Amino acid sequence: MLDRKKYEEQLKRVKEEQIEELAKYLQQYTALGEMVRDMPVAGFDVEKKIEELEKIPFSPEGRDPKEVAEELVEKGFNESMMLQHPKFFSFVTSAVSPYALAGAILADIYNVNVCGFEEAPTIGIIEEKLIKWMGGLAGWGEDCGGLFTSGGSLSNLTGFIAARDNLLKPEEYPIGVAYVSDQTHSSGKKGLRMMGLRYDQIKIIPTDDEFKFRTDLLEEEIKKDLADGKKPFLIVGTIGTTNTGSIDPLKELGAIKEKYNMWLHVDGAFGGSILFSGIYNHLAAGIELADSMSWDTHKWAMQGYSSSCLIAKDKKKLISVFAEHPEYLQDVINEEHTDGWDMGIEMSRPARCVKLWFTVQAMGTDLLSDVIDYSFFNSHQAKRALEELEGWEITSEPMCGTITFRYAPTGVDPAEYDEMNARISKEIIKSGYAYIVTTVIKGNRVLRMNMINGNMTDKDVIDTIHRLDKIAHEIYG
Ligand SMILES: Cc1ncc(COP(=O)(O)O)c(C=O)c1O
Repeated sequence: MLDRKKYEEQLKRVKEEQIEELAKYLQQYTALGEMVRDMPVAGFDVEKKIEELEKIPFSPEGRDPKEVAEELVEKGFNESMMLQHPKFFSFVTSAVSPYALAGAILADIYNVNVCGFEEAPTIGIIEEKLIKWMGGLAGWGEDCGGLFTSGGSLSNLTGFIAARDNLLKPEEYPIGVAYVSDQTHSSGKKGLRMMGLRYDQIKIIPTDDEFKFRTDLLEEEIKKDLADGKKPFLIVGTIGTTNTGSIDPLKELGAIKEKYNMWLHVDGAFGGSILFSGIYNHLAAGIELADSMSWDTHKWAMQGYSSSCLIAKDKKKLISVFAEHPEYLQDVINEEHTDGWDMGIEMSRPARCVKLWFTVQAMGTDLLSDVIDYSFFNSHQAKRALEELEGWEITSEPMCGTITFRYAPTGVDPAEYDEMNARISKEIIKSGYAYIVTTVIKGNRVLRMNMINGNMTDKDVIDTIHRLDKIAHEIYG
């Protein structure tokens, strides 16, 4: 039996004590952009904290919520990677706008479920409006539609399933072929395997010197597969590849998909936000030819996790694949506005769209565009700083706020470069100064800096390059 009195006492305690506590954390957060600057970016004593956390029991009576909150911050969050840190250059991470945080809090407070339109008609309109606006930036018209998902992986998978089910009959699934490039994100191959494609149904096409899809090789492969009686159905292009930020030749990919009656899905999980920029959006020309795209605003548009979008040029092509209308939903199916559950995989969904809505409405689109443009500027500053130093080689040109490079001094056997760069990465992380890891491109281990974090200044970038140089000289003379 639920002890009502005890339950109500708990609620009272939250009201009287916890709200104030939470307000303290909120205030801290809005100052976090500044606060984290003085904190180490990494190099914490994580082992010790993990040990302490492992020892915390689950007690039947519960305990002081203030203690729980402080413990979470002290042992948990403060020891996690500081993704907001202005010198965090790895992965593909945003600094979260305080507006996005405000939106997230509101969404959690009201706990709206945007599964179907009837459950949340007003927030549903907000989601629909954002998706249409973003689809419009991609050059799509009134027919476009989609939904917010948990992340790029789910958005990609949703687009792939739509491609398969629109173009193949179930008996053709075993002969369907999908084409990705050697720079497609791992969620591409993973999503395709999860759909049941065998490895031989996933063709990995090489990229050129700028890490872009080789469309000549793609077409050759498609022709070969057609001659073998297979059914090429999907091309996965990318705006903003994870390694180098490269953008595939979308116009050419679009022409090929038209010619062979295929589906073009563009993974814009990272780079989709380039469409917010008034200066750089032209780099994504050809996106209008795609059938679907994923677009993570938790990557380059200052949103917290999770905030991804899957948008299709023609939302009917999502509905025809994902709609299921069981008897218990018959009273709540909306005829005028498409229910989220009819356009994707999830049923219950939090109101992820509220974060972006709050940000765009409060911050305005100009500042959002500036954040994108500033990332380009920062990556060019990184290039300039590297060029002024001896012994550094740029391994991919700045693109989408990303650059790769390596320490490659003359007089050293190039076979040693991989090890040297791995060591430089480890040293800078250990020092807590900046977070930079390596990746491998064209067979070489290189350092990668991703500069899409709005908290980052060009000084952060240049100082970090100089610190890398200092570390390299300290170790290797
Ligand atoms: C190009 C690209 N696509 C997809 C993903 C996967 O996105 P998520 O981690 O949100 O699932 C990433 C992640 O970094 C990415 O860079």
